[in-house]
Amino acid sequence: MFLKKLELNNFRNYKNLSIDFEKRKTLFVGKNAHGKTNILEAINYLSILKSNRIQKDSELVNWESDFCRIQGEVLKNDLDIELDVLINPPSKKIIKLNQIKKTKSADFLGNLVSVNFCVDDLMLLRGAPVDRRSWIDDCIARIYPGYQDRLQKYNKIRSHRNNLLKSLRGQSFSDEVLSVWDEQLVISGSNIVFLRLKYLNEIKETVTQKHSIIAPDEKLDFNYVSTIFGETNDFDAYSIDAIAAFYKEKMKDVRQEEIIRAKTLIGPHRDDIEFFINSKSATKYASQGQQRTIVLSLKLSEIDIIKQKIDDTPLLLLDDVLAELDKNRQNYLLTSIEDDIQTIITSTDAHGFEAEFLNDVKIFHVKQGEVFEVS
Ligand SMILES: Nc1ncnc2c1ncn2[C@@H]1O[C@H](COP(=O)(O)OP(=O)(O)OP(=O)(O)O)[C@@H](O)[C@H]1O
Ligand SMILES: [Mg+2]
Repeated sequence: MFLKKLELNNFRNYKNLSIDFEKRKTLFVGKNAHGKTNILEAINYLSILKSNRIQKDSELVNWESDFCRIQGEVLKNDLDIELDVLINPPSKKIIKLNQIKKTKSADFLGNLVSVNFCVDDLMLLRGAPVDRRSWIDDCIARIYPGYQDRLQKYNKIRSHRNNLLKSLRGQSFSDEVLSVWDEQLVISGSNIVFLRLKYLNEIKETVTQKHSIIAPDEKLDFNYVSTIFGETNDFDAYSIDAIAAFYKEKMKDVRQEEIIRAKTLIGPHRDDIEFFINSKSATKYASQGQQRTIVLSLKLSEIDIIKQKIDDTPLLLLDDVLAELDKNRQNYLLTSIEDDIQTIITSTDAHGFEAEFLNDVKIFHVKQGEVFEVS
């Protein structure tokens, strides 16, 4: 797929912006705080109908306006697709596909699929478990429509169950009071764990293969760390029913503690993914460079998996990430991106790029919420 045009009105620091993407590779260059990331954020919004930076859509609206609009024109399988999002808080956002209003986001999603890679991603291994859960959940959401809804459903059930646990605090009650929520939690949570294991299984080979190209002497492994059944790298060993059976057993074990602490203590909301280099924990022992190699391998594998699943090429959005990689990793990244992948890159300057790479790139200069063509 190819994003041909992006138009913004009152989005962040852009009053009115119209960009035509002509080449497969585009570079936005500009000083800090002039609006480079905002452009990628807008593209990402058209892709997943949410920001990858903030929770509240109202923050996307220019401070001097009360609405913002993001429009994109995508070429997909030789067809032109028009995407249009109007954010007008506190009203519900209006989404249109080819000028036709859609009430369900599922009818809109999938027309523009992107993979994001930003500086924060490089911290994935050093970050908290929640960062790794968000990473895997985002990856899955891009290839399995409906995953986002399943995740929301799980969180809703968990929140109802937590409220019930709080209201029962200090009282004696029978297990039956909780059983309705327990049952729903097990069904919903097992499904999420199953899909996460499935994703890890799908990327396992590609990730280790990509990693071995940059670091041939280092063997990469990763485990899913489940609060239900413990650690595993045998990602296809668990059926949904098997996960549910472990879930029910483990729930009994933690019942007393859950009552005392009045919260749900096991399930996908508490799981993690652990990475190892030569059998040593990468979080604890790997250098910054080694950790970055892992993240780079994960990101490049994400592109491959999406390509297989949607039978099309996703966009790759690289936010300031090249400056953070050494020459070896930078070259690997740039040469790994196949020519058919539309790549949109931001950077504070163009000097760090190889001349050969710049030959085939369309460069824009970003200055105080305006964008100027350079080449
Ligand atoms: N809702 C908003 N209305 C107006 N301006 C905003 C809004 N949200 C953010 N901004 C401004 O947008 C500017 C540019 O942000 P952006 O993150 O795109 O910068 P950047 O060019 O990527 O900078 P850096 O190189 O530091 O990453 C910031 O100065 C910020 O104050
Ligand atoms: Mg930025």
